[in-house]
Formats: sequence, structure tokens, C-alpha cells
Amino acid sequence: MTARTDLAAHLAALDLPQGLTQTLTVAAAACVDIKAVVAGGALVGALGASGAVNVQDEEQKKLDVIANDILTDALMACPVVAGVASEEMDTVHPATNPAGEYLVLFDPLDGSSNIDINAPVGTIVSVLKAPSAAPTEADFLQSGRRQVAALYCLYGGQTMLVLTTGRGVAGFTLSPDGCWLMTHEDIRIPADTKEFAINMSNQRHWAESVQRYIDGCLQGADGPRGKNFNMRWVAAMVADVHRILMRGGVFLYPWDKREPNKPGKLRLMYEGNPMSFLVEQAGGKSTTDGKQAILDVTPTELHQRVPVVLGSANEVDEIAAA
Ligand code: AHG
Ligand code: MN
Ligand code: MN
Ligand code: MN
Repeated sequence: MTARTDLAAHLAALDLPQGLTQTLTVAAAACVDIKAVVAGGALVGALGASGAVNVQDEEQKKLDVIANDILTDALMACPVVAGVASEEMDTVHPATNPAGEYLVLFDPLDGSSNIDINAPVGTIVSVLKAPSAAPTEADFLQSGRRQVAALYCLYGGQTMLVLTTGRGVAGFTLSPDGCWLMTHEDIRIPADTKEFAINMSNQRHWAESVQRYIDGCLQGADGPRGKNFNMRWVAAMVADVHRILMRGGVFLYPWDKREPNKPGKLRLMYEGNPMSFLVEQAGGKSTTDGKQAILDVTPTELHQRVPVVLGSANEVDEIAAA
């Protein structure tokens, strides 16, 4: 059997700035630590609610807090990290590293409602250049186009890390002895699909165009699309996006009329931007509405939300035209 490339060799071959390699190495190691807690579950006291509510007004699970602490502690101790921000923390955390070069933003535990039912969860990480070694919140509010790396880790049947530094997308599987081995060298999203992912229970709240698009899919081969569609919804964006990276599809968490001024559910800085970087690098599209690229959205608030319509390029165009 030929030896597989590991994450360290992949990063070395990309010839990245040394600080970025170090940041990504620390983030990947933190994901291995989070995986151990996810796998321990009830045995390590990782299930259930923490009793607190986060800045998004969500009930925090114990694992949200544990994963956040693991990533925060690891990254703040990394000398090239200038600061971190997280879905689970009210404000940004500047580090006092004089050599700080990078800002790291993360969703430490994505798919929190899956924790207690032993269904897939993940971690999402976005990396930006730090304008200064003493960053303010304004320094974090950079558009997604300025990301220098994005990754997610999926704690599923296998533990996988999927990474982009702007030169395609590579996937690594965690080996039993704890190494990230490349198993997916150049991930590409097929342009066409017959599979969509959306939380159908929100249907009555969607915009008319989303209603029309999904209705067209549901009519199947006899309807305007002329083909039968399948539906999937894991309720963890990491797992839904991973499926799209593996076999195509579209994922929607669209604007809906319940909270017109707080559009969508997903967070731009911790979910929208890093996943959009990965999806675009794999040849897919990632938009707010089928048209507007999420990576071009100018952030105005750290915890701002964004509608998400992403996946197979031709299908995202269908949604734009619906
Ligand atoms: P998080 O657990 O980080 O708060 O994110 C949950 C998100 C996302 O992962 C998923 O796609 C979506 O919420 C699921 O929402 P529903 O509960 O509405 O299905
Ligand atoms: Mn949450
Ligand atoms: Mn999330
Ligand atoms: Mn989360």
C-alpha cells in the first residue's frame, strides 16, 4: 500500500506562510481533542445542556462550551494568533501575542441539536489576516473573500477534516493512531443535482421564490424540472455541506419572514463565510439568495446572520431564477 500524504505534508507542499501552517496545525489538533470528547459522550459528561444561553439567544449545550474552550485555549496559546472570535463568545478575544498575524473565527460545535442523539456534529474554522497584533472587533469584520483558509471537521462515522487555503479543497480522515491522512485529494462539487436540503417545517415562512423552487422540485418528473428530487436534512450544516462536497446537492437556510431584519439562522462569520470559501473552491456556488455571493457580503456585526443558498452551481442558478 502506498503511503498517504498527511496534513503536515500537504501544508508543506502548499508552501504557505509559516504562521498560517502553524495556525491550521493547532486548529486541526484542537479538532482531534474535540473528537475525543464527542466520542466519549455520556462517559465523559459531554451530553446535555450547560444551563447558559449564548449571545445568539441559543441554549448552550455542554459540548458547545467544551469545544469552545478547547479551540480558544489552543489558539490563544499559539504565538502567531492575534485573536479569536466564536459563536459561543459575546465579544472578540484579542491575544497578547506580539507576533500575532492571524485572526481565527469559529463555530466550535455545529449541529448542537444532534449532540444528545449521537448524530453527526462538526467544527467550522475561518482564518483571516490580522491587520494588527492588537486587534479590535472592527478588524474581524472582513469580507469572506479575504479569508486565507477555511476548514471544517466532521465528527461522523469517520472523523474528517476538509480544508481550503484558496487552492482547491482537500479532505483528510483521522486514522486510528491520530493522524490526518489525505483521503480526498481534489474535491469537486458536481454542477447538477437531484437532491436538496432545507428545513421543510419553515415552509410557510419562506419567500415566494423559495416556495416556487421547492414546489418545482417536489413535483418531480412530471413537473417543471422534469426530474425526481430527493431530500436530506442532517440539521448540522457541516454534515449537509459535506454531503454536497461528496455528491452534489443544494443546501438552503433562506431568509424568512419571521425576522426580516435578522435574516436566516446561520452566522456569516462562523458558518456562511468559511463554508462559502470551501464550496466555491470546490466549484460550487454559495449565495444569500441564488445570486449574491456570501463571500462578497460586507460584515457589519460580529454575530450577524446571513441567508444561505449553496451547492451545485447549476442548481443554485435554478434557485436564482425561481
Ligand atoms: P449550531 O449548532 O452551531 O448553532 O448550528 C446549527 C445550525 C446548522 O448547523 C444547521 O444547518 C441548522 O442550524 C439546523 O437548523 P434547524 O434546527 O432549524 O433544522
Ligand atoms: Mn448554536
Ligand atoms: Mn453552526
Ligand atoms: Mn455551534
